[in-house]
Amino acid sequence: MKKITVSAPGKLMLFGEHAVVYNRSCLVTAVDQRMKATVEITDDNMFCLDAPEVDIAGYQKPMDCLGTGEIPSGAKFVEFAVKNFIEKYPLTYGVKVTTASDFSSQFGFGSSSASTVCVLKALSELSGKKLDNKKLFDLSYKTVLDIQGKGSGFDVAAAIYGGTLYFVTGGKVIEPLTINEISLVIGYTGIKADTVTIMASVFEKMKAQPERVERIYDAIEKLTEDAKIKMLEGDWERVGKFMDFNQEYLRDLGVSSEKLEALIVAAKQAGALGAKLSGAGGGDCMIALVTNDTKKAVEDAIEKVGGQVLPLSINAAGVRSEV
Ligand code: MEV
Repeated sequence: MKKITVSAPGKLMLFGEHAVVYNRSCLVTAVDQRMKATVEITDDNMFCLDAPEVDIAGYQKPMDCLGTGEIPSGAKFVEFAVKNFIEKYPLTYGVKVTTASDFSSQFGFGSSSASTVCVLKALSELSGKKLDNKKLFDLSYKTVLDIQGKGSGFDVAAAIYGGTLYFVTGGKVIEPLTINEISLVIGYTGIKADTVTIMASVFEKMKAQPERVERIYDAIEKLTEDAKIKMLEGDWERVGKFMDFNQEYLRDLGVSSEKLEALIVAAKQAGALGAKLSGAGGGDCMIALVTNDTKKAVEDAIEKVGGQVLPLSINAAGVRSEV
């Protein structure tokens, strides 16, 4: 039977989180921590999943029952990915999926979206449909929305295209940017954030204070647009300032946290050009923009206040088959 292994990178939001859920732009980069999925065609018409990184072992059900009944949370994205694929491109065989991850799902690097992309890419290759990136994006984004209800799709785009992207909600624009020298320190708070819950709290705030929150989104979008230009020019001093301003707006939205603030303040005091949370907020990671001269001091400062520095490189390659 045929079998293929596909990998896709995780992501780090640079600018524009939350605003990008509501028709604005963001800047995202792919990180060199990859999710992997091995997908195998079987002749028993069953869907089988082993996903040790989310405690799923020997999970299975008939292919025509996908999406029904009780689904363990660790199996949802892969199961819905297969379901959405076969609804569009019917298969006459079963599918066995085994996933593996370079990184912990705790970090907020988008492991669910990356595994969705891996599975859909693998099915696209195995079935001979060979979906292009945009079709792969649309099917992956649909899968994420089926489960989460809300989300911009920026993490799906990072997993597919890799590199650093300028992205607008729902993939209206996906523009790869050539940015090489960006030097970031990534600090993990040790706290797992629940993106869906935080997005819901922001939505409540929008309902309560629509004009104020729309103004914040507009301001974040303006920063994102300016940051894109300054990143392409390599004007890192300005990019750092924009990160600080973006963080102020995220504080106003109420998505920062004590631990994130401690890491951000420590990074700034140690000489970072700018620092902000990355992703939904509430925990997960912060990023600090540094120079060669300040990198070590910023890393030490983050660790001193209880953060974990994650030694990752960015601009990682997008989804690909592994040999
Ligand atoms: C979460 O990592 C980033 C958000 O903007 C959600 C999204 O864009 O899907 C909060």
